[in-house]
Amino acid sequence: MISISRPIIEDEERQAVLEVLETGQLAQGPRVAMLERRFAEQCCTKHAIAVSSGTAALHLALLAHGVGPGDEVITSPFSFVATASTIMMTGAKPLFADVREDDFCLDPASVRRLLSPRTRAIIGVHLFGQPFDVDAVSRCAADAGVPLIEDAAQAIGGRYGGRPVGSFGTGCFSLYATKNIMCGEGGIVTTNDGILDEQVRLLRSHGASQQYQHVRLGYNLRMNDLCAAIGVAQLAKLERFTCRRRENAAFLDARIQGTKLPRELPGRYHVYHQYTVRIERDRDGVAARLHHAGVGTGVFYRTPIHKQPFVREAVGDVSCPVAERLANEVLSLPVHPSVTDQELLQVVTALNGAVRGA
Ligand SMILES: Cc1ncc(COP(=O)(O)O)c(C=O)c1O
Repeated sequence: MISISRPIIEDEERQAVLEVLETGQLAQGPRVAMLERRFAEQCCTKHAIAVSSGTAALHLALLAHGVGPGDEVITSPFSFVATASTIMMTGAKPLFADVREDDFCLDPASVRRLLSPRTRAIIGVHLFGQPFDVDAVSRCAADAGVPLIEDAAQAIGGRYGGRPVGSFGTGCFSLYATKNIMCGEGGIVTTNDGILDEQVRLLRSHGASQQYQHVRLGYNLRMNDLCAAIGVAQLAKLERFTCRRRENAAFLDARIQGTKLPRELPGRYHVYHQYTVRIERDRDGVAARLHHAGVGTGVFYRTPIHKQPFVREAVGDVSCPVAERLANEVLSLPVHPSVTDQELLQVVTALNGAVRGA
């Protein structure tokens, strides 16, 4: 079976973990500091703070921006649940703007309609590796006088107008095992704001300004040095991995027929965390035929966040027609760096055949 994702673990990652084990310094230490320095360089930001997951990155970014009960945060319903559940963790209410057909990301016009004096932040999602319309969404945030948070969990290495994602607002990245680079479980917050940097550092470690001195309520959401060592090794390979993903996407673009393909929009550098096509008729039947032909696929996301039971209970009935239609049509195909050309051909043949037969 050609899998939809496969972490790449090579000698560098193995060696890095063994070195940490030999030092005996397993908790947050010098490898975390090294990953933070290199990540900040990669994103062209002044600061990067390593935390235990992408979810922790979003949660702590929101808290550091002062989001809390009574506030509203506007975001996308077409994303992983953590994009909005982290808003609810702070006690604030998520408001769902619809997404665009062409990039699956926030529709700025829909965002603008939801702005109000209660708006406290906007979270845009660089979904599947394609940056969202940063200019238009930033303008909404600036007009409302609220921070822009970039959910860049799927888009490390992506660029908008030549600038790295995570450098426009407060960047939140995931290093979960299936991401473009990974460390098992991990996350990073990026920012140019020294105060935000300080607050996220406090929040990730029990609000401690120094050992056993707790200046605010905090959590234990630290990254450990074993994970950070893997992250450092992976970051060094980001360019290679990204080039291979983009080559694989171009290979699929050139050969798939009769299916709506993902499109890299002008000014955006797509890093193809997922290669997501749209199957307008019998998507699940097509996926089953691909599975039968040995091709693994993924449906991200079958249920938009505003339709998840616990979210619906909190925010009531919300309508986002584009997100709802996409949820019925999207199908992600293998595009990760370890898929071979022969496997890609197998994907193409199986998909073209399955779509013709649908
Ligand atoms: C868009 C998006 N946001 C947030 C997250 C949460 O990251 P993590 O799984 O590292 O907590 C993910 C991870 O799947 C994601 O894809």
